[in-house]
Amino acid sequence: MLDQSKLEKYNQEHLSEYEKLMSNNEKEQLENKVESLDLEFIQNLYQDLYVNRKTISDVSSVSEVEFMRKAELTEQEREKYERKGIEAIRNGEFAVLLMAGGQGTRLGYKGPKGSFEIKGVSLFELQARQLLHLKQETGHLLNWYIMTSDINHDETLSYFKEHNYFGYNPDNIHFFKQDNIVALSEEGRLVLNEQGYIMETPNGNGGVFKSLEKQGYLDKMKSDGVKFIFLNNIDNVLVKVLDPLFAGYTVVNDKDVTSKSIQPKDGESVGRLVNKDSKDTVLEYSELDEEVANTFDNANIGIHAFKLSFIKEAVNKDLPYHLAIKKLKQLDDDFGVIEQPTLKFELFYFDIFRYAKDFITLQVPRDEEFSPLKNKEGKDSVETATADLERMNLI
Ligand code: UD1
Repeated sequence: MLDQSKLEKYNQEHLSEYEKLMSNNEKEQLENKVESLDLEFIQNLYQDLYVNRKTISDVSSVSEVEFMRKAELTEQEREKYERKGIEAIRNGEFAVLLMAGGQGTRLGYKGPKGSFEIKGVSLFELQARQLLHLKQETGHLLNWYIMTSDINHDETLSYFKEHNYFGYNPDNIHFFKQDNIVALSEEGRLVLNEQGYIMETPNGNGGVFKSLEKQGYLDKMKSDGVKFIFLNNIDNVLVKVLDPLFAGYTVVNDKDVTSKSIQPKDGESVGRLVNKDSKDTVLEYSELDEEVANTFDNANIGIHAFKLSFIKEAVNKDLPYHLAIKKLKQLDDDFGVIEQPTLKFELFYFDIFRYAKDFITLQVPRDEEFSPLKNKEGKDSVETATADLERMNLI
């Protein structure tokens, strides 16, 4: 039996009602799950992030990050960075980390977002091709770490296998899963998914470093002689996966965090890369007043290189959760399936910046390096991604 007084204390007494409709097996499942949850922590998240939620409107302590425009690098500087980048890649100083655990709800596509194909070429393949090209250029096949989640892990693995790993050596691809966290109704209650289990969703891309560590991959990188982790998103079809210039820029400047940015457009759904209390940070668009967002000149495009020693030191430090509200299918009181706005809790990878001591940013031209596939139609859609890939002769 579920502990009634504990449920009441944490606003979860509805679970006893569910229990009445369950078989013995299901009851046991539910009890074990509830037992394993920290209900107090969950209620605190609900209070802090939903009941008392606020957007960031006071940015008095925030200023522009210092940045270098790629276009302003001299020919000599470019050559130097490219040469140093090739050298560092050849020496095995980089590992490449792809975050692909997201749900891609806005795109309305069922499979893993990376398996979405444009003219027969998937987002995964677009990235694999670049790493294979680097192998040709440097003689070194990079270790490619790919984060998935419960919702797409098996499908991602099958997709790679079916496509013969796009010609990559599977021993150099390391898939790992991120963690989950429970979702809540707008009343702060645990909900049941369509299968009748307590609903959990991927805990945001900020779980990436801890999950890497849990798998032993940070240690592996260290023993492989890696010095920097290059990180990128799955959905930017123009992403340059560890281009030598950026690799060289990272190695020469040798900061804890090296970022690429672009000049944002007004109202664009991109985080703003800013400086707050002498640390670079990202103010996420979903939490920022639009007018305030429009005052900043650098947008986050999810492309960074982190010093491995910094990540190893910061990986177990706390990161805050953020709130997203998404319509998700779940069971109602009579065990019928309904779709309801549901609270999802997410960690953001850039919150780890607060533990870094130094930063550097290279602002790159949007038309060459940023075209995210987020939506079915309109802005950042299949249509715009296709046009950009064709313009850059990538498909
Ligand atoms: C993200 C950035 C935003 C940036 C924009 C550029 C975050 C929190 N925000 O926004 O600052 O301007 O990209 O396109 O990163 N992912 C996981 N697991 C999860 C959730 C996401 O691996 O649980 C991955 C996604 O697969 C994707 C990346 O993280 O590769 C970004 O996630 P997404 O939800 O697409 O973030 P955006 O809202 O687009």
